[in-house]
Amino acid sequence: MAQLWGGRFTGQTDRLAYQFNASIAFDRRFLEEDIRGSIAHAAMLARQGILTEEEKDKITAGLEGILEDTRQGRLQITEEYEDVHSFVEANLIARIGDAGKKLHTGRSRNDQVALDMRLYVRNELDRTDDLLKTLLETLYRLMEEHLDTYMPGFTHLQKAQPVTLAHHLGAYFEMFLRDRSRLQDIRRRMNLCPLGAGALAGTTYPLDRSYTAQLLGFDGPTRNSMDSVSDRDYVIEFLAALATVMMHLSRFGEEIILWNSNEYGFVELDDAYSTGSSIMPQKKNPDIAELVRGKTGRVYGALMSLLTTMKGIPLAYNKDMQEDKELTFDAIDTVKGCLTLFNGMIATMRFHKEVMAKSAMKGFTNATDAADYLVGKGMPFRDAHRVIGELVLYCIGQEKSIEECSLAELKAISPLFEEDLYEAVSLKACVDRRLTAGAPGRQAMEETLAYYKAYLNGQ
Ligand code: ARG
Repeated sequence: MAQLWGGRFTGQTDRLAYQFNASIAFDRRFLEEDIRGSIAHAAMLARQGILTEEEKDKITAGLEGILEDTRQGRLQITEEYEDVHSFVEANLIARIGDAGKKLHTGRSRNDQVALDMRLYVRNELDRTDDLLKTLLETLYRLMEEHLDTYMPGFTHLQKAQPVTLAHHLGAYFEMFLRDRSRLQDIRRRMNLCPLGAGALAGTTYPLDRSYTAQLLGFDGPTRNSMDSVSDRDYVIEFLAALATVMMHLSRFGEEIILWNSNEYGFVELDDAYSTGSSIMPQKKNPDIAELVRGKTGRVYGALMSLLTTMKGIPLAYNKDMQEDKELTFDAIDTVKGCLTLFNGMIATMRFHKEVMAKSAMKGFTNATDAADYLVGKGMPFRDAHRVIGELVLYCIGQEKSIEECSLAELKAISPLFEEDLYEAVSLKACVDRRLTAGAPGRQAMEETLAYYKAYLNGQ
């Protein structure tokens, strides 16, 4: 048991208590962040005359050596250390002697861990953003390909009006675009450096906190030392953003599960992204989409868990906060895995255009357009709505669609119907006449796609 705080103690820590308290099993993930933070701290201490240049150089080389040796497997991070900070410090002292003992001058593990977590979350936020961008690029490519792929749009899971696949995918493009913008907001707000806050009340050494902040790529130092060591808002915000990403993936996953079902038959998943059944030879299951839907629960759980952990903690640092890590790591790993797999799944999925178009023609998705047709012939919309309702009822009885009725049948319902009705309620016309901004009509969609293209090129 290698502890940094033995001086005040005479007795040994109970074994189970030690293990209960230790965080090395999971904060070992911070090794790189911890070392980068320490190198910046040492550079600042030397600049302020608190360390000599020679001491700083020894410390820096020692820390880099620890990182390299651990990466190469020459040095193991073992459970004999309480946490990653103890591991680094003990190894530094073993390597370079007394200079190593000066590294912790003007620093506490409280601001150290606050920094490590921030660096880690900031980096993972950027990685998540990269994956979201890749997903948007895939969606963009599919949208360009499917501007004329007609499909039914649904409300209440009932066929409503025809749309295109490009338009439907565009709804998800918007969701993931918002997810990226949420991440960017969080990054901007969190990008202040807590190092130098000390245990809670700053320090008497003349630290230059702005300099450390700058070395570590922050916009500046945090402003209140008590808040600095006990703020985990940015983790909560990040988990909330991740939970929202999962909610979007889960909705999308649910649609893919439906589309891939025998009943819909809109898509077929590539063999690489589906699995079989141990008993039913005919099965090809959408397990990846189902797992994404399922894993959404654990990411929500991480958010709820941390909110609950934080809610009763008095200022400033308390050990409860150590509980921020495992769940955050798990949420990050989960979301990154889901984004990667989801992207692969949709990039390789085959769309059955004819099935989608046929489905769009059934279920009277052109009923609104038929009503609009009568409005064009001078009938008030409310009357047209009733007439088309009667026509639909007639069609249901005859088991046919509107466009399958003869002109004589149509005229029996309203004399306003003419030959041009058939063109007006065709799938293509129904979609392409929807030209309001944000609508599925080809011209409107092309404008939206131009915006997306500029967006993807810009960020
Ligand atoms: N392992 C601790 C954590 O994750 C590091 C900070 C320890 N500070 C302390 N005062 N015990 O929060």
